[in-house]
Amino acid sequence: MVSKVTTVKLSSGHEMPMIGLGTYARKADPGQFCQAVECAIDAGYRHIDTASCYKNEVEVGQAIANKIKQGVVTRQELFVTTKLWNDSHAEADVIPALKESLNKLKLDYVDLYLVHWPVSVNSQGEDTAIDHSETWRGMEQAVAQGLAKSIGVSNFNEEQLERLLKSAKIKPVVNQFEINPTLTQHKLVNFCKERSVVPVAYTPLGLISEARPEFIGKDAIKTDPKLGELAQKYGKTRAQIALRYLIQRGIPVMPKSFTKSRIEENLNIFDFELTDKEMDTVDSFNIDHRCVPGSIFAKCTHYPF
Ligand SMILES: NC(=O)c1ccc[n+]([C@@H]2O[C@H](COP(=O)([O-])OP(=O)(O)OC[C@H]3O[C@@H](n4cnc5c(N)ncnc54)[C@H](OP(=O)(O)O)[C@@H]3O)[C@@H](O)[C@H]2O)c1
Repeated sequence: MVSKVTTVKLSSGHEMPMIGLGTYARKADPGQFCQAVECAIDAGYRHIDTASCYKNEVEVGQAIANKIKQGVVTRQELFVTTKLWNDSHAEADVIPALKESLNKLKLDYVDLYLVHWPVSVNSQGEDTAIDHSETWRGMEQAVAQGLAKSIGVSNFNEEQLERLLKSAKIKPVVNQFEINPTLTQHKLVNFCKERSVVPVAYTPLGLISEARPEFIGKDAIKTDPKLGELAQKYGKTRAQIALRYLIQRGIPVMPKSFTKSRIEENLNIFDFELTDKEMDTVDSFNIDHRCVPGSIFAKCTHYPF
């Protein structure tokens, strides 16, 4: 299964696996993070997506260390992403924040370091509206010091990305944002691709996810016969069709699961191909619904949505 996972070449020259394990959970026992990452590496995942604000870097790092010690993978075979939180956007704060993440992860470097949100806040959560070009200078130092192989952004809108690209000495290699069949994001995806910034999908299952009862009423995609027929045709699940749809659009996916069968299921999407017409069918589910609106930052100067 491992050999089937395709990769994408980043503008930094490094290769990134097209699927990574998402690790964010609002509520989880520390052991669950560790178990999920170990399970994913055993299944063949070579890309793990974490963030300092997920408060799980210690457990993610422990799982990675365990799998390296057991000889299942080498550090070089893994692609580890973590993210700078909004309270560390001052240029001088970036390297210390990254070093803290690396310390927790027990790693010398990350493969990808992302500015998690374009908004910045102080320790009281108040808007500090730090200019992105300032934060980016700190990010560029991370590459210069060998602490991050590649750097990128997350949740940046077109205007914010365009402005950053103009001032950046080292270009952001990715923009990670929400993309799924009910939030297809064609405009921002194309905008990124035209500028050699890889669009990466977080919350790639969106409304398909089993654990989103809050979206009852908007969840036709869970029962719609058209998606069911596609799933049946390929002997796959609705979730696998959604992930495959993104992969075929050239979008790497970061599905989160702490369930062994689903961790394995989500990886098993590289052995079939949707036709152009079927891609249009999945596209037709778009309702521009954001599962992650980041509403707590809505009053911040640099709120992106
Ligand atoms: N950059 C950002 O601002 C940002 C924001 C949000 C998320 N992310 C990243 O993206 C990752 C994924 O996002 P997400 O967790 O919001 O959403 P998601 O991956 O689209 O959905 C996760 C949910 O779907 C369930 N699930 C997983 N596989 C499934 C399957 N095959 N069939 C049915 N249900 C399935 C999971 O339950 P079980 O665990 O019980 O299997 C979990 O409740 C995060 O973990 C994080 O790494 C980044």
